[in-house]
Amino acid sequence: MPKVAIIGAGNVGSLTAMRIVEKAIADVIIIDIAKDIARGKSLDLEDSLSVFKVDSTIKSTEDFSQVKDADVIVITAGFPRKPGMTREDLLNKNVEIIKDVALKIKSLNSKAVVIILTNPVDLMAQVFHKITNFDTKRIIGLGVSLDSARFANLVSQELKVGVSEVEAIVIGVHGKGMLPLARFTKVKGKALSNLLDEKKINDLTEATVQRGATIVAHLGSGSAYFAPSAAISEMVESIVKDENGETVASVYLNGEYGLKDVFIGVPVRLGKSGIKNIIELKLNPQEKDLLLKAAGELKKCTISV
Ligand code: APR
Repeated sequence: MPKVAIIGAGNVGSLTAMRIVEKAIADVIIIDIAKDIARGKSLDLEDSLSVFKVDSTIKSTEDFSQVKDADVIVITAGFPRKPGMTREDLLNKNVEIIKDVALKIKSLNSKAVVIILTNPVDLMAQVFHKITNFDTKRIIGLGVSLDSARFANLVSQELKVGVSEVEAIVIGVHGKGMLPLARFTKVKGKALSNLLDEKKINDLTEATVQRGATIVAHLGSGSAYFAPSAAISEMVESIVKDENGETVASVYLNGEYGLKDVFIGVPVRLGKSGIKNIIELKLNPQEKDLLLKAAGELKKCTISV
């Protein structure tokens, strides 16, 4: 059984653990500085596995050395948003957590595929890379796959079709620089840009960009966790099963899309050793311009490590 280490057993981390062990995708270890809470959650989760007769294991620890033989490390340690905050507002607090976690991982395991959730995710992936100097193919920021799921949901509601009929694609930044792509989003195989007028598409785009903030405003404390954990477990499954699955993720670009030295969301194919390849969509000049602008905004954030 593959082993997944989840750093941060909060809302996103513990639900991710649940999804992974319940589907028997891997054995899971959760690691959190709040060791008692992590322990309580892992014991509770462990009990649920006998209900489902599933043989995966779930353990918790505060001992970081347990990451050493993990095939995948998921980082969900960090502060979530509060109402009124942007993901970028989390930068100063979360960068210290990512630095701490990255330094520990660096000395213990350079072979794992690392999936980062902590926001602002595109910048956190950059920080993780700077600290660890890990092979960039093994660093994946999860943001736009969640945004794609949200866009698909909103499109399905607008067009009154099942969500399984929608293949949505969002690239760019997991934040204001998010780019839901109507030309590449397919509904029953047809391009969304041919099914709705520009105004409707703009409304859906804006609702997708705002979806996380909308959820945060309703929750009052904390941010989304059901859809983020679903997106992570899907990604983990694709990696450990070496499925060659196509998704979108924040990855290091080295010339692709005319961009260099930046982590930003684009389509990729995933496998056992991380990113198998980056897929270059044929963007039109307007789409390309928006992507370059989004990347430009990211590059303005210089983070000293
Ligand atoms: N090492 C390990 N765990 C840590 C560390 C650390 N250095 N720092 C914080 N944590 C743990 C906390 O103890 C807490 O259990 O991270 C967990 C965060 O959990 P929540 O507060 O519930 O946050 P969550 O909703 O899970 O979001 C975590 O993911 O989606 C993003 O924006 C979100 O940045 C946020 C992150």
